[in-house]
Amino acid sequence: MEHWNSYWHQTKSLNSFAEDESSPGYNGAVLDYWHQLFASFPTGSTILDVATGNGALAVSLVDFSNTVKANFQVLASDLAAIQPLSTIAAQPDVLKLLRQVCFYSETPTEQLPFAQNSLDAVISQFGFEYSKRKAAMQEVLRVLKPTGSFSAMIHHRSSVLTKDCESGLAFYSDVADCHFFAVATELLTIADSEPKQLSSQQRTQYLNKKLFKLAQDLQGICVNTTKEYWCQDFLQRVSPLFMQVKPGHLQLLKRFQHDILSHEARLNDQLASAWSEQDAEDFSACVLRAGHQSNISPFLLDNDLFGWTLKMTK
Ligand SMILES: C[S@@+](CC[C@H](N)C(=O)[O-])C[C@H]1O[C@@H](n2cnc3c(N)ncnc32)[C@H](O)[C@@H]1O
Repeated sequence: MEHWNSYWHQTKSLNSFAEDESSPGYNGAVLDYWHQLFASFPTGSTILDVATGNGALAVSLVDFSNTVKANFQVLASDLAAIQPLSTIAAQPDVLKLLRQVCFYSETPTEQLPFAQNSLDAVISQFGFEYSKRKAAMQEVLRVLKPTGSFSAMIHHRSSVLTKDCESGLAFYSDVADCHFFAVATELLTIADSEPKQLSSQQRTQYLNKKLFKLAQDLQGICVNTTKEYWCQDFLQRVSPLFMQVKPGHLQLLKRFQHDILSHEARLNDQLASAWSEQDAEDFSACVLRAGHQSNISPFLLDNDLFGWTLKMTK
C-alpha cells in the first residue's frame, strides 16, 4: 500500500492517471457516463465512492449534486492513507468540493465502517477491482439498502489503459536489465564524495560516458515501440541531474528511483486488477449465486476499449 500512499500524498491530481499533472478528475465521455447515473439517484441519497484515491469521482458527484440541488450525502473510502484536503489545498475551487465529501482513509472495501442496509448507492471508478472481489461484493451488498445499487467502471484486461500499463512495465524492466540506476548512483556518489585515486573529473567523465551510452541503448531498444513514450518521459525527468553533476543530486536520484519503483508497483497492481472476459463472467455468476443481478459491458472511449461498466442491484 506504500506505493499508493506516496502517490496520493505527492500528486496534485484528483485521479490516478495523471503522472506529474495537475488533473481535476475525469471528464468527457467518462464523466457523461457518471452524470447519467447520478441523475438516477433520488434526492437526498447517501452515496459511497469506494477506492476513491484523492476523490475524483466523489468530487464529480458533489459538483453534480450542487448543480441540480440533489442534496446528496457523499462518502468516500480508500485503503491507502489518503488526505486529499491537504494534498489539493492549493486548488481552492476543488478544495471547496472536497470539503463536502466525508473521507474514510485506510478503509478496505472488504470491510466498510457502515451499518447494514444504510447506503442508497455505492460507486467506484477503477477502484473496486483492486480489492478481493468476492469479499468486496459481499460487503457492498451488506451496506446497501434493499433498493440500493452498485455501479463501477472496472479495468479491462484488453483496454488501451492496460496495454499502456504493459508497455510501462516492459520499459521499467529494460531499465532494471541495463543497471541504469546502479551506474547513475555510482556517478553521483563520486560527486558527493572526496576524490580518491583518479581525479574526480576523470572518473566523472568515465561514468558520464557510460551513463550516456546506457541512455542511448535504452532509446535504441524503445524507439518505434509502445515503450518509446515511457523512455522519453524517463530520460527527460532524469537527465537534469546529469547535465551538470553536483553534490546533492544523489539524493534527488534516490527520490526519483523511489518514485519509479512506486510507479512500477502501481502499474503491477493495475495489471493484476484488470478483468478479462472470464473474470467478468465469473463475477456475474458469483453475484447470481448470492441471489442478486448484475450487468457487465465493455465501455468504449473514442472507439477504443477503455474498461468495463458494472451494475449490480441488491
Ligand atoms: C487506480 S486507483 C483509483 C483511485 C480513484 N478511484 C481514481 O479514479 O482516481 C486504485 C485505488 O484503489 C485503492 N485500493 C487498493 N486496494 C484496495 C482495497 N482493498 N480497498 C479499498 N481501496 C483499495 C488504492 O489505494 C488506490 O487508491
